Amino acid sequence: MPLSISSICRNITPSTTLRLNALVAEKRKQGLDVISLAAGEPDFDTPEHIKQAAREAIDKGYTKYTASSGLPELRRALSEHIRSTKGLSYQPGEIIVGTGAKQVILGALIALLEPGDEVLLPTPCWLSYPEMVRMAGGVPVLVPTTLEQGFMPDLSQLEAAVTPRTRAIVINTPNNPTGAVWDMRAMEAVAQCAKDHDLFILSDEIYEMLVFGGGSHIPMASLSEDAYARTVTISGMSKTYAMTGWRIGYAAGPKPLIDAMDAYQSHATGNPNTIAQHAALAAVTASQQCVADMAQAFESRCQAVQELLRQVPGITVAPPLGAFYVMVNIEALLGKRFRGQMIETDGQFAELLLEHALVSAVPGEPFFAPGCLRLSYAINEKRLAEAVRRIKAFVEELI
Ligand SMILES: Cc1ncc(COP(=O)(O)O)c(C=O)c1O
Repeated sequence: MPLSISSICRNITPSTTLRLNALVAEKRKQGLDVISLAAGEPDFDTPEHIKQAAREAIDKGYTKYTASSGLPELRRALSEHIRSTKGLSYQPGEIIVGTGAKQVILGALIALLEPGDEVLLPTPCWLSYPEMVRMAGGVPVLVPTTLEQGFMPDLSQLEAAVTPRTRAIVINTPNNPTGAVWDMRAMEAVAQCAKDHDLFILSDEIYEMLVFGGGSHIPMASLSEDAYARTVTISGMSKTYAMTGWRIGYAAGPKPLIDAMDAYQSHATGNPNTIAQHAALAAVTASQQCVADMAQAFESRCQAVQELLRQVPGITVAPPLGAFYVMVNIEALLGKRFRGQMIETDGQFAELLLEHALVSAVPGEPFFAPGCLRLSYAINEKRLAEAVRRIKAFVEELI
């Protein structure tokens, strides 16, 4: 009997970043010194006091199920954490802890969407959003933004994308892949559009602690009472505490939505890993100095990478203000040849760069930024400098 795969899964595009990581791993196995600028995770180790909390959790026998929405003490701690970092008030019952922000975002979309509901996605955006919208039965509607706009949509662009089927908008600031940190004007445009058309706002604030150059992160729910009532805020441990592998994320929002997400989660995954929840509890309740230290290191790399990249001919750097990514526009280099081979797309550029310069960069295309590359500077400055030296040598060979 031929195996028939559901249309939902048939239509999922596998993650480009994971494919690239596999290629890098293969090359490293061959003994090649590949520098990866493709990583979506901090290179820092998880701080010791967080790891210690996990060891203690195991020793104390905290190895059983918890409530599916997370440990009550963790939800209380997150309520306090959100109050102190964003100035927003959520009761523990308005917070759900899940297996990474990724799972929580999918849960929110499943709780919100009816089949065929449209979801606005300002682009460039994280490549998982459109897939998740489709997996939840919705239809992603892209709202393209440009470097000239600082990669922030304006109200007229949002309005033009709204139809009677529009149900929600997903925003992400600080942004992956652009490193943009949205200003008040862009946030107000989203709040206004959502109010005018009764849309729900899913605000992915996973990079909230990584904002540079004296800028600040504006939490979507802080804009107004109306915005608060129609926003679910997503964040997590991965990027702030260098805890990507621990898989703890959370959402805060209106109780009926959080309850619906919990109902779904209780059958989909059950509670997130109990030991990791205890580690997360230590992360948010202990001193936040480790967060400040890591953010400072990212800020100094952010400066360094921009200065280095400015020396590479033919590329334009979109100055990042947050997260740990920088987007470079390579359109001026497309149509050139490397050792006789024509480079037509950012994907081909990235492949040749990996093959011949041993530098892995993510093509912009899957993020809806064709003609660009996303470079992650979550690596130490010495390796970063060597990576850019290799990119420059590669570009200088193009004719
Ligand atoms: C914008 C954005 N949101 C969410 C996530 C997922 O984070 P988590 O590790 O908590 O699932 C990522 C990870 O790359 C991301 O870039």
